[in-house]
Parts: sequence; C-alpha cells; structure tokens
Amino acid sequence: MSERVRITDVSPRDGLQNEGGVIPTEGKAALVRALTGAGVDEVEVSSFVSPRWAPQLGDAAELFAMLSDERPVGVVYSALVPNERGMEGALAVNAAAGYGLIRKVSVFTAASETFSRRNTNATIAQTLERFRPVIARALEAGLRVRGYVSCIVACPFEGAISPAAVADVSARLLDLGIDELDLGDTIGHATPDSVEAVLIDVLERTNLGPTSRDGDPSLTLHLHDTFGRAGSCVERALELGVRSFDGSVAGLGGCPYASTPGKRAPGNVATGTLVEVVRRAGYSTGVDLDALGKAAALARSLVDNAGREPGDPA
Ligand code: HMG
Ligand code: MG
Repeated sequence: MSERVRITDVSPRDGLQNEGGVIPTEGKAALVRALTGAGVDEVEVSSFVSPRWAPQLGDAAELFAMLSDERPVGVVYSALVPNERGMEGALAVNAAAGYGLIRKVSVFTAASETFSRRNTNATIAQTLERFRPVIARALEAGLRVRGYVSCIVACPFEGAISPAAVADVSARLLDLGIDELDLGDTIGHATPDSVEAVLIDVLERTNLGPTSRDGDPSLTLHLHDTFGRAGSCVERALELGVRSFDGSVAGLGGCPYASTPGKRAPGNVATGTLVEVVRRAGYSTGVDLDALGKAAALARSLVDNAGREPGDPA
C-alpha cells in the first residue's frame, strides 16, 4: 500500500478571509461539511482573530456551533488563535459543544518583521511571547498545536527572506511546545530549490523529522500558487520527506495583510491540484476528487454570491 499524505483544506479560513461581502455562516458550514465528505484529513474552519482585522471570519463561534450537531469522524477541525482571547474563543466552542469539536489550534507568526507587524501588530518576538500562555492552555486542554511561520521564501514588503531566519523562528516556536510546524509561502514565490533550501535549514536547525514518532506529520508545507509552481514545490518536498500539505478548494485564499497596492495576495494551491500531484508521485490520500470538485463549486459560488441579496440574479 502506498504511503499516506495528510491533506488539510484551509479554504474556509485562508480561502475566505480575503473575501469582502457577506458569506452566510450556513454557506460556510455547508463548505466544511462538503470538504469533510470529500475525505480531507483536516479542515481549517475559521479564526478567532479580531473581527476588525478579519471581518469575514467574525462568525467563527456561530460557525462552530452550527457544526457541533454532527460529531466529526475521521477529520480534524482546527482554528487560528493569535492570542489568549482567541484561545478562550476556541475553548468556549468546545465547552458549548460538550466535546472536542476543535481538536487543533494554530498560532501564527512570520520570518519577516514587517509582515509580522502588519499582520498581527507585533514584532516576531512579541508574537512568540503572546503564544506562550496560549500554547500552555491548549496543551493543558488536550488540543494539538500547530505553529505557522509565514514568508518562508519572500515577504511582500521586505523581499527575499533567508532560510536561516525561517529556521530561527521555527526553532523558537518548537521551543514553546508546539506539536507541529507549518511553513507558509505566503505570496507564492517558492521554487523547488528555494523550498529545498528552507526545508534543509529548518530540519537541521530544529532536529525535527518530517513525521513525529506517533506517525503524525510534524511538518506541513502551506503554499500559495502565484506562479503555478506550487505543484513542483510539493514534488520536491515529498522527495525530502514532507508528508503533510495545506490546500484550498478552488485555489481560493490569501492573507489580506500580504496584499500590496494594486496587488491582491494570491490564493493557496488548489486542493485538487495538490491531491493529483501527491498521487502522481506515488502517495495516497483519503480524498475523493469528484466530491472535492463539488466542494470547489460550492466554494466558488459562495464567493461569487457574496454580497448579493437572496433573489438577486446570480
Ligand atoms: P491589536 O489591535 O494589536 O490587538 O491586534 P489588541 O489586543 O490591542 O485589541 C484590539 C481590539 O481587538 C480589541 O477590541 C480587542 O478586544 C480585540 P476593542 O476593545 O478595540 O473593541 N481583540 C479580539 N477580538 C476577537 N478575538 C481576538 C481578539 N484579540 C483582540 N482574538 C491581533 C492584534 C493579533 C488581535 C490582530 O492583529 C489580529 O487579529 N490579526 C489577525 C490578522 C489575520 O487574521 N491575518 C490572517 C491570518 S495569517 C495568514 O493568513 C497566513 C497563513 O495563511 C500562512 C501563510 O500563508 O503564510 C496562516
Ligand atoms: Mg496562507
């Protein structure tokens, strides 16, 4: 049997956070259910961030409440938490559900100081200090913790970022006790060679294996696909042992704080593309591509219809 690769769909979070207009919470719940039905391993459902910073995701608690009727089986639901307030929001969801509806929370920082300030109003060091109590609380509550590092190849404001800077912040995150690292090519500048350089530095510096002893991947690659190179970056990362990737149905996505004047942040690699690349390389996933196609159509219609009143022509 071929080796399994973990697929996380981040479209309800990364995919929708950059969208204006109103996407009804029911529509988001339908998208999460469609992704779950398509067999992805994890869905990044939303963010407990300030609604002033990511207005589209201001309904995170309502969305999870809507999903809580059906206990997720065979899929992990996760959410972003930038600070203690966000962590409280995630724990309140689980308390209200009466079980661990959210099984994983993700903290996020960057290898670029400017991006860190723009995205979270904090220096890299300040974000890490913020995370200390967040991670402790999450682990105490039995949640798994993912730590994102953005701008692993380039920053929209600073340009090229060195692999050493990525390795440094990755090591500091792991020292805080996160279970797994997620390396984000926020603006899709990666090439197979630059991905390799980052992975080599990070793995050397952190002593991290691509998979942890319990077999769960300890390292994920999160690619945005500006220049159509994400697929070849995935191939190279597979060769280097990475067994976990993020994608977004229909290739939606982008961090609003990675947009620069006249240039909207690019979308994530499409989950369908990701699954095809992974399979072509000889690995298996749990994803049913037909069902994923339907989820992608739903995601597109949610974005296309955002802001339209019911009854308006589509
Ligand atoms: P701040 O303004 O410095 O925070 O923002 P603050 O503590 O001064 O609070 C300001 C206001 O926000 C207060 O409300 C707080 O209560 C409220 P007010 O009293 O003014 O009405 N607040 C919150 N509300 C709800 N939930 C919270 C929360 N925290 C504070 N958790 C903060 C700091 C971190 C909160 C802000 O910068 C923020 O929310 N940033 C998030 C930005 C974001 O969501 N970016 C996109 C996700 S990252 C990404 O896309 C990259 C990734 O995909 C990987 C990659 O591609 O590289 C992961
Ligand atoms: Mg992203």
